[in-house]
Formats: sequence, C-alpha cells, structure tokens
Amino acid sequence: MEEADKQHKVLRHWKFIQLWIWMLSFFAILSLCQSFNYDEALSKSLLYFESQRSGRLPYNQRVTWRYHSGLTDGLEQGVDLVGGYYDAGDNVKFGLPMAFTITMLSWSVIEYREQISKAGELEHALEAIKWGTDYFIKAHTHPNVFWAEVGDGDTDHYCWQRPEDMTTSRQAYKVDENSPGSDIAGETAAAMAAASIVFRKTIPHYSHLLLHHAQQLFRFGDKHRGKYDESVKVAKGHYTSVSGYMDELLWAGLWLYKATDNEGYLNYVIENAHAFGGITWAITEFSWDVKYAGLQLIASMLLTEERHRKHQHILKEYRSKAEYYLCACLRKNNVTNVHRTPGGLLYIRQWNNMQYVSTAAFLLTTYSDYLQASNQRLQCDQGTLEPSDIFKFAKSQVDYILGSNPTGMSYLVGYGSKYPQAVHHRGASIESYKRHKGFIGCTQGYDIGYSRQGPNPNVLAGALVGGPDIKDQFRDERENYMQTEACIYNTATLVGVFAKLHWLGKDY
Ligand SMILES: *[C@@H]1O[C@H](CO)[C@@H](O)[C@H](O)[C@H]1NC(C)=O
Repeated sequence: MEEADKQHKVLRHWKFIQLWIWMLSFFAILSLCQSFNYDEALSKSLLYFESQRSGRLPYNQRVTWRYHSGLTDGLEQGVDLVGGYYDAGDNVKFGLPMAFTITMLSWSVIEYREQISKAGELEHALEAIKWGTDYFIKAHTHPNVFWAEVGDGDTDHYCWQRPEDMTTSRQAYKVDENSPGSDIAGETAAAMAAASIVFRKTIPHYSHLLLHHAQQLFRFGDKHRGKYDESVKVAKGHYTSVSGYMDELLWAGLWLYKATDNEGYLNYVIENAHAFGGITWAITEFSWDVKYAGLQLIASMLLTEERHRKHQHILKEYRSKAEYYLCACLRKNNVTNVHRTPGGLLYIRQWNNMQYVSTAAFLLTTYSDYLQASNQRLQCDQGTLEPSDIFKFAKSQVDYILGSNPTGMSYLVGYGSKYPQAVHHRGASIESYKRHKGFIGCTQGYDIGYSRQGPNPNVLAGALVGGPDIKDQFRDERENYMQTEACIYNTATLVGVFAKLHWLGKDY
C-alpha cells in the first residue's frame, strides 16, 4: 500500500515535470516562430519603387503623395530622358545604382517568381522592373551612346525640394566612344539581360528588345574601356566606381550567357576570369559598386550542369571565392569574417550599412536553395554547413531588419508599429504636391522639410534605411543621412527573400 502510494506520488511529480517541459518548449517554439508579416513587407517594398519614380506617373500610381516630375529631362540635349528612378533621398537619376537595382529586382524575380506570384505581387514586381528598363531603352540612343546621369549631386544637394518642384540643373551626361564607361554599360547590360529573362514568356517582343540593347551595351563597354566616373565627372563622390569596370564586364557577360545560352559569353567569363579579377578577388561585400561576389556565386552554380564540365577548373576557382564570401558572412572563415553587431547584424561600414545586409541575405538565401536542390553542403574553414543553417542565418538578418533587434524598430519604413519617422528624403519630408500645390523653393524646403520638427508628413513605405551603427544604435534624425537615408538598391535585393519567407509560412 505504502509502496503504491509512493509510486503514485512519483508519477504525479513526473507528470507535473512533463507538463512544465511541454509548456516551456511550447513557448520556446513560439518565440522561435516570432512571426513577421513577410507578405506585408513584400507589398510595401514594391510600393517603395513607386515613391522613387521620376517622369509622368501612370493612372494606376498607388503612392498618391507623388506627382509628375522631371518632365523635361534630356530636353536641352535633345533626347527624351523622362522616367526612371531617383536613387535615394535626392532628385538625381544616377545610372549605375539604378541599373544595379534593376539587375537585383530581376534576379529576385528569376529565383522567386512563383513565391512572389503566390503572394499576389508579381504584377507589381514586373512594373517596378519595367519602369527601369523602359528608361534604359530611352537612354541608350545609339549602340555606343548611353545617357548615364540626369542632374548632378552637387547642385541637388544644395537644394531641399520635392521632385515636383525641381529647379536644380537637369543637365544630362552620357558615355560614348570618346568618353567611355564600361562599368555603367556593363551593369545596364546585366540589368537588361536579366530583365529579358523575366519578360521572356509574358512579353516576348519586349524581352527581345531588351536583349538586343543588352548585347549592344556589352559590346560597347567591352570595346571602349574606361571608368564611367572619369567620363561623367559629376558622378564622382556620389557613385564613384571604386572597383573599376572589370567586375561589371564579367557580370554582364554572365547575365548575357544566362539570357542567351550563347557559349561566346560564357567563354568571355572563363577566359577573362583571371585577368579581370573574377577568380582572384576574394571580397566580403556585394554592392552597386562591387559585383564580384554575385558573379562568383552565379558562376559556381553552373558547376552542377554537365554541359559546363569542360570549364570546371575555372568554375571551381570562382566557387572557392564565392564560398569565401558566404563563409565570411557566416563567420566560418579562419581569417577574415564579417563583423557583427552585438544584436547580430552584419556590419560592414557606418554609411548605409543595410545595403550590405540585404545583398548578403539574398545571396545566402539563393545559394542555400541551390545547395538544397543539388544535395550539397557548404564547406568552410571552420566546418561544413547545411543549406538550412545558411538560410537560418539569412532569415535572422531579415528579422533583425523587421524589428527583431535591440531597438525593437523596423528599419523597413511603414512596416510594423515602430519605424523611422524622419527619413532623409526630400519628397517625404515636405507636404505632398496634391495637398500643397504652391511652389516650394530650394532653401524654403530646408526650412519646412529638412528642419521640420517631428515625423515626415509622407510615409516612405517600403524604404530600407541605412540602419543602426556598430552598437545597434539608431538616431532617427533627418540630418543623420548615414542612418536615415534609404536607397532603391537596399530594398530591391529583399523582394525575393520576403516572398520566400512568406511562402514558407503558408500552406498553398
Ligand atoms: C582553419 O583552422 C583550423 C584549426 O582551427 C585548421 O584545422 C584548418 O586547417 C584551418 N584551415 C585553413 C584553410 O587554414
């Protein structure tokens, strides 16, 4: 009797412990799945491209605080340069980052088309790409002439005006045979080649046209070599091509190979791999300037196809550099790794650090999908990683962006309940043109917009700001442009990743 009682007691005790274990694991799982609305992040991110539009806005424009602007761009030079995107919080159309943005949006759609479509956002993604490629077609007026920039950063930066009011110089600048720009020609060729893949089935004639321009631009960039900021001096200091043009030429060659299946382009990427730094540059950042990591990643993914066997020696060298980048992000290299903030954010530098976070999140996600599909793992100095480990880290970066961070703030504007209020952005910081039609001058804008106390009147939804410093601290002030300015390429790279994360959380 006594023995049975004791047993009963132990059993009850055990059941109690079991209940506790069950509850604890329930909460642990709950907190692990702290769930973000990735579909909302995706929708907002595509909305952002409408805020950055230049030119005549269409009837279905959803961001209604914006209106037509830059309607005489190119007029002085006798060329129609109406359209395209403003890159950030200013009103200049810088060609190099605009092209990179379109390449990355297109790559996102190529990798995650189905997921974007299931989230109901494919049309918006295609519109965002086409707004850029329509402009590139206009800007490419002759096989060897490309209009690289409209407006200039120096005069623009003395002015704080809504794009609708612009009184700053709208001088347009070009590259041609005598003043070459292989980097901008290469990046625009890459953008148009990638976009031609996106539109291949839906608008075949447009896809064809893009490919035609891409091939011409590549030929122009390759034949007439030079850095675009030597030809278009006004780009210097704003978007200086620090890494030169060799990365863009390889990058363009590779995208053209993907778009055409023409062996000639692949041979170019193989033959110039060494001379152009494709297999010698090991680098831990990927951006509008430095394309090596993206190039190396795409080249390594060719290895699993039988028809590329004859190039496997060079492709493996590309792969080893791609792995160096990925392992550095994952902190699995013996020597060089990317720094992380105490809150876990990849940290490259203080000015617009988020651009490197979003490109890393995209490359890691894409490569983990590739490894998964080809049943491979990632070999780093400090161990072997499963595709799921890589993706988990990429997700942690996206979740940090959306609010899982020490300030509890979403760095994607307009997402969640706490996000930057004083984004460094001319249009967003001044009453919209629709509400206040009166002209607002250059310096007047500084008084009523830039120096405004309190939040911007217009929410720049979907903009990803520069983000916090090395200690996860963020100062939400308009003059703090290193942290509160957003750029189109920051958001472009996240579109596909948001779609994938949303799709994973759904039962379709
Ligand atoms: C990295 O370091 C480990 C020891 O920590 C060593 O075994 C390994 O050989 C090193 N790898 C390289 C590539 O240097």
